[in-house]
Amino acid sequence: MKSLVGGGGARLLTTILFALHLRWGSGACPCQDPELCNPMSSPKDFEVFVFDVGGKTWRNYNWSQITTVATFGKYDPELMCYAHSKGSRVVLKGDISVKKIVDPVIRAAWISQQIDLAKTQYMDGINLDIEQQIIPFSPEYYALTALVKETTDAFHKEIPGSQVTFDVPWSPECIDKRCYNYTGIADSCDFVFVMSYDEQSQVWSQCIARANAPYNQTLAGYDNYTFMGINPKKLVMGVPWYGYDYTCRNLSKTHTCSIEKIPFRGAPCSDAVGRQVPYKIVMTQVNSSLSGILWDEEQKAPYLEYKDSEGVFHQVWFDDPRSISLKAAYVKKHGLRGIGMWNANCLEYSGSSEAQRQTEAMWEALLPK
Ligand SMILES: *[C@@H]1O[C@H](CO)[C@@H](O)[C@H](O)[C@H]1NC(C)=O
Ligand SMILES: *[C@@H]1O[C@H](CO)[C@@H](O)[C@H](O)[C@H]1NC(C)=O
Ligand SMILES: *[C@@H]1O[C@H](CO)[C@@H](O)[C@H](O)[C@H]1NC(C)=O
Ligand SMILES: *[C@@H]1O[C@H](CO)[C@@H](O)[C@H](O)[C@H]1NC(C)=O
Ligand SMILES: *[C@@H]1O[C@H](CO)[C@@H](O)[C@H](O)[C@H]1NC(C)=O
Ligand SMILES: *[C@@H]1O[C@H](CO)[C@@H](O)[C@H](O)[C@H]1NC(C)=O
Repeated sequence: MKSLVGGGGARLLTTILFALHLRWGSGACPCQDPELCNPMSSPKDFEVFVFDVGGKTWRNYNWSQITTVATFGKYDPELMCYAHSKGSRVVLKGDISVKKIVDPVIRAAWISQQIDLAKTQYMDGINLDIEQQIIPFSPEYYALTALVKETTDAFHKEIPGSQVTFDVPWSPECIDKRCYNYTGIADSCDFVFVMSYDEQSQVWSQCIARANAPYNQTLAGYDNYTFMGINPKKLVMGVPWYGYDYTCRNLSKTHTCSIEKIPFRGAPCSDAVGRQVPYKIVMTQVNSSLSGILWDEEQKAPYLEYKDSEGVFHQVWFDDPRSISLKAAYVKKHGLRGIGMWNANCLEYSGSSEAQRQTEAMWEALLPK
């Protein structure tokens, strides 16, 4: 009995279930209205690109704004049907080892697998989130651009109107040793999503807590992407709906929080010592904090300070409607394709009326005034 459950029996059962799943998936549309399984292909001019990491919080998103949801959680057919009913696209997450894609045969097989998956799940494209290190002009460097081009061509052909996008770091300067052909990649897909956050992943100067996405540093990244020849209409600005909680080795009266030195991809100091915290958690800390919400004029970012149960000081850097709308103004001024966030699940969708107001304000801050 034991061996049946633990061994071949379980495997056989898994195989049968998997086969059934495939049959259901490629056959019946899971939506009440079968029309909702058709690909979404009439995008609005302004893109609001949303990352969802799973669960059911999507029910409370501000759907009047959303154009695309990139699903990084488990496949949820209900989300797909709902998004389509609101005229929004739903796209897969795509990631593969850059060592493997050097072989064109492996690339082609992977792409065809993604297309099958997208068709089975009635998805409208794919977001390539490949954050691996690449040496400039290495075989992987060329293979990555080829992967993006081949994926885009295949999706556009196989699923008419579908969307292929690629996630790039906040600046094209080999951030975290991701030296990619950014112009080639942007040319080869519908648009790139610029991850304007984790901007302290490599700190070469003083090892202190700083903003996740300082205003000037963020905008300089976009200036450089456009300066290298990328059309602003190929750029979607990504803003963080999370912050970093740093444990201070020492917190000065002038709010300088010195942090432990942990190296990252060649830099001596990094935000890797911080703990990522969703906006909704930061908001619950405001009243009990030592400081309330402070504002750093140089980085144009809010932060707060508190003492933990062991008496150790913490500094928490985050983004709020004030810092986000400043960045969103750049989107309009420079004619970028749109805006989006990592990630939509970070807000409180079921709390007090105060929390709900904060959540609405975060959605509203995305729309450039
Ligand atoms: C980037 O990719 C494009 C398109 O494949 C190519 O024409 C260009 O030469 C590449 N640039 C560099 C610097 O590798
Ligand atoms: C922008 O480009 C300039 C010139 O190459 C470089 O010095 C600067 O570090 C870059 N800044 C960012 C944020 O990419
Ligand atoms: C902490 O900061 C205070 C005031 O800025 C300074 O006098 C002290 O030397 C610092 N301590 C450490 C361990 O860095
Ligand atoms: C924080 O304090 C303000 C002002 O006293 C109050 O209105 C609000 O409800 C408090 N928020 C929380 C989450 O306790
Ligand atoms: C930010 O950029 C503006 C415009 O380039 C410049 O005038 C300002 O001094 C910069 N601020 C900081 C804090 O670097
Ligand atoms: C959704 O966003 C729009 C635009 O900011 C706003 O007018 C609307 O009230 C929001 N809806 C909800 C339910 O918050």
